[in-house]
Amino acid sequence: MRMYDIIRKKRDGHPLTDEEIRFFIEGYTDGSIPDYQAAALCMAIYYQGMTEDEMAELTFAIRDSGERLDFSAIKGIRADKHSTGGVGDKTSLVVVPLVATFGVKVAKISGRGLGHTGGTIDKLEAIPGFRTDLSEEEFTECVNRVGAAIVGQTREVAPADKKLYALRDVTATVDSMPLIVSSIMGKKLAADDDVIVLDVKTGSGSFMKTIEDSRKLAEIMVNIGRKAGKKIMALITDMDRPLGEAVGNALEVREAIDTLRGEGPEDFTELCVILSENILYLSGFGTMEECDEKVREALRDGSALEKLREMIKAQGGDSGVIDDENRFKQPKYPHTVLAEQDGYLFHMDTEGIGIASLLLGAGRNTKEDSIDPSAGLRILKKTGDFVKAGEALAVLYADREELFPAAEEKYRSALTWADKKPEEQPLVLGKVI
Ligand code: URA
Repeated sequence: MRMYDIIRKKRDGHPLTDEEIRFFIEGYTDGSIPDYQAAALCMAIYYQGMTEDEMAELTFAIRDSGERLDFSAIKGIRADKHSTGGVGDKTSLVVVPLVATFGVKVAKISGRGLGHTGGTIDKLEAIPGFRTDLSEEEFTECVNRVGAAIVGQTREVAPADKKLYALRDVTATVDSMPLIVSSIMGKKLAADDDVIVLDVKTGSGSFMKTIEDSRKLAEIMVNIGRKAGKKIMALITDMDRPLGEAVGNALEVREAIDTLRGEGPEDFTELCVILSENILYLSGFGTMEECDEKVREALRDGSALEKLREMIKAQGGDSGVIDDENRFKQPKYPHTVLAEQDGYLFHMDTEGIGIASLLLGAGRNTKEDSIDPSAGLRILKKTGDFVKAGEALAVLYADREELFPAAEEKYRSALTWADKKPEEQPLVLGKVI
C-alpha cells in the first residue's frame, strides 16, 4: 500500500477502506509517513469529506494508535466532558470541580489551544507550578484522592491525534467535520469513561459555523460513542459571541474562579450549570431538576471552589491564586479599546476576537510558538449592548505595546454595529441524546 495512492483516492472523492485508514494512522504515528503527506491527506479530507463509516474507522484507528487507558483502579462513576472548541470557553475549569464535588470521578485529558480557540492545558499552565504532565500513577492517585485531575495528551494516549492536531493547526485543516469527529472521539474512547457529555459549539467562534453542521457533528459523535458502549449525549451551544468576558489563559482561570465563587458572568455560569447537571443526570444522581438544584447549591455553598483548590494543590499548583489574583503572571500593559460611534453592538465575529487574543500572545501561530499566559482581553460590551461613543468596549493585555495596533484593528473589525437591538439568541440551541 502507498500513501501516494491513498491521497490521490481521497483527492478524487472516493471513500477509503478500513485498511487504508489504518495504514495512514499507523504510518503517521510511527513516523514512516511524513508530515507533508499527512497534511496533503488532511486537505483532501477537508475538501472531499468522509462517510460515517470512514469517520468511525478513523476514530477507532486514532483510539488504537496508542495505549487504551485502564481506569479500573479509579473507584466510582467516571465521567468526562469535551467541547469542540470556542473563544472564552473555560467551562472545564468549572464543570470538572463542580461534578467532582458529588463524587463523580473525572480523569480528564485535555488539549492545548487550536487555531483561534483556547485549550484547557494552556489555561491550567497559567497557574504557577501547575503540572499537566502527571505520570499514570500520579494521575490515578489524584483522581482517587481528590476526585478529579486534568492532564495533557501524552505520547502514549492517541498519539496519532497529538501529531495530527498540531499539524492541522498550522495547515488550515482544523475545521473539517471528519477530522474533528475523529480527533475528539479518538481521544475520548482511548480513556475509560462511563459517561461523556459533549459541548458542540455553533456560530462564528466555533469550527462549525452553522447549526446544521453542528447538529450533524453532534449526531455523528454520539453515534460513534454509543457504538463504543458509552453513555453519551451532546448539547449544541452558542458560540456566536465569546463565552463570558475573559479571553486568554490567566484571565480565563480568574473568571472560572469568580464563577465558582458565584460571581461569574451570567452566560458562562449558566452553561457550566447546564453541562454539570447533564453529567450528574447521566451518572444517575436523580432527575434533571434534582441535579440542577445540587449543582447550583455547590456553587452557592463554595464546595465546588474548594474542590478546585484541592485539584490545584494536588497537581503542584499555587492554590493561593484563588484568593490573590496577583499570584498570576501580570501583563505589562493594558490598552483600552473605545467605541467610535453610538449604537447597538449587533454581532461579534467571535473567531476574529479569538485571533485578536492570539495576536496579543495568548495563542500560537506555529507548532513551536510559546504563549504568554497573561495576554488576552476582557470584553466589556457584548452583542445586544447599547454603546455610546467614547465608552470602553474591551481592554487588551500584552507584554509588548507594539502588539496592540494589529490586535485592536482585528477586534474592531470583528464588531458589527446597528441602530436596532439584535434578536436574543438562546445559549443552548439543541440536544442530541
Ligand atoms: N477539539 C479536539 O480535540 N479536536 C479537534 O479537532 C477540535 C476540537
